Amino acid sequence: MSTYQSPRRVYLETYGCQMNVADSEVVGGILGTGGYALTSDIAKADVVLVNTCAIRENAEQRIYGRLGLFSTYKRENPGILIGVLGCMAERLRSNLLESDLVDLVVGPDEYRKLPGLMDRAFAGEKGVAVRLSRVENYDDLTPLRTEGVCAWLPVMRGCDKFCTFCVVPFTRGRERSRSLRSVVGEVGDLASRGFREITLLGQNVNSFRDGANDFAGLMREVAAVDRSVRIRFMTSHPQDMSERLIGAIAEEVNICKYVHLPVQSGSDRILGLMNRTYTVDHYRRLIHRIREAVPGVALSTDVISGFPSESVADHRLTVDLIRELRFDGAFTFKYSPREGTKAWDMEDSVPEEEKGRRVWEITGLQHAIALEQNRELIGRTVRVLVEGPSKKSPHEYTGRSDTNRSVVFPHADEQPGEFADVRIDRANSATLFGVRVGDVIGAAPQSRGSAA
Ligand code: 5AD
Ligand code: SF4
Repeated sequence: MSTYQSPRRVYLETYGCQMNVADSEVVGGILGTGGYALTSDIAKADVVLVNTCAIRENAEQRIYGRLGLFSTYKRENPGILIGVLGCMAERLRSNLLESDLVDLVVGPDEYRKLPGLMDRAFAGEKGVAVRLSRVENYDDLTPLRTEGVCAWLPVMRGCDKFCTFCVVPFTRGRERSRSLRSVVGEVGDLASRGFREITLLGQNVNSFRDGANDFAGLMREVAAVDRSVRIRFMTSHPQDMSERLIGAIAEEVNICKYVHLPVQSGSDRILGLMNRTYTVDHYRRLIHRIREAVPGVALSTDVISGFPSESVADHRLTVDLIRELRFDGAFTFKYSPREGTKAWDMEDSVPEEEKGRRVWEITGLQHAIALEQNRELIGRTVRVLVEGPSKKSPHEYTGRSDTNRSVVFPHADEQPGEFADVRIDRANSATLFGVRVGDVIGAAPQSRGSAA
């Protein structure tokens, strides 16, 4: 790099889960110290990097579409480099180099090598780095975050659960946790920089472990750093949803009363084939226990429709469970076979159209439930962390409640990062609308009484 006056510029596009968003911030930090600078303008870029997702076929199709556009762009600008990062890089490896388009393929555990690989690629040497690591957790690196209100903070990487449908254990490797000390240190740092909400991230976040400390211990320490900062976490596996963790959510005032707990199916037979390691009844008891310990808690879930051999009766069991448990949100996906997983060897027996119909039925039901849940909040006052102008109007501001509901209200003098109490007067299934009552609250702790 020393031969250049100004650093070469990198345009980085991110797809997929929040872990990828956080990884892109790590990549930003690595590039900065490696002599490269990020740009948000592709026309100024010397390098185009795409951080990719491989969770479902359609996620990959979308990225192929994007790479197709970049190939046109590269034909017009032959000097630029194109790199594929993340889960697709890990899954497809050097196959991605077969087209002339791609110069670099770098998996999730090899980002430290990026500046060196890019330097060599400019000299004409294409590079592939896709080794998975048992130890890499980027614990010592400073991610490049744009200032804001909400921050993502990975605390563990990888997954050892091996659900039979899921490619993540293959693209992100074995579980490993960061140290509690470095996570707590980073939370302090983020709080002092003005971030007011921090989401602890991991594919299986509640299996975090650092010596004697489990995830509940980490959450309690993180929450104690600054009580004016909200703490969230994502994503949990029912198997690791301990009584200690439920206790931490219930007792720590600034841990948000919101749990995302993927169930995947309401049929024990399908759960068995998925290797989910729990039964519907275990899951049901867990939900009851969380609701009992954390009054007013919001719960959301993930569902896969059309897993191999899922019958109409299995599907009905899932629908019945959704109706019974009344989640505040549910993300429903059509099963997508992923090469290398155990389910790949099972017959993909449910036709695409039928998968679509099942997803549609669950989504419709969940939509109606969420609308009822949200309407119950009309007349109540909820405390909102103000994020900024809503998408629709600069005169309206938006934020989220403790329970992760989007709340829109007319803008007065609120600033992003402040807390505002909003009285709800209208609701649809996705958003609450209301007016602010009382003064905004700067960096004060949230009260336990916030209704939603
Ligand atoms: N097909 C469909 N959905 C999947 N998920 C994971 N793998 C697949 C797959 N092969 C869903 C699960 C998981 C969410 C992040 O993505 O519901 O919880
Ligand atoms: Fe995939 Fe299951 Fe691990 Fe989640 S817990 S990342 S669904 S293997």
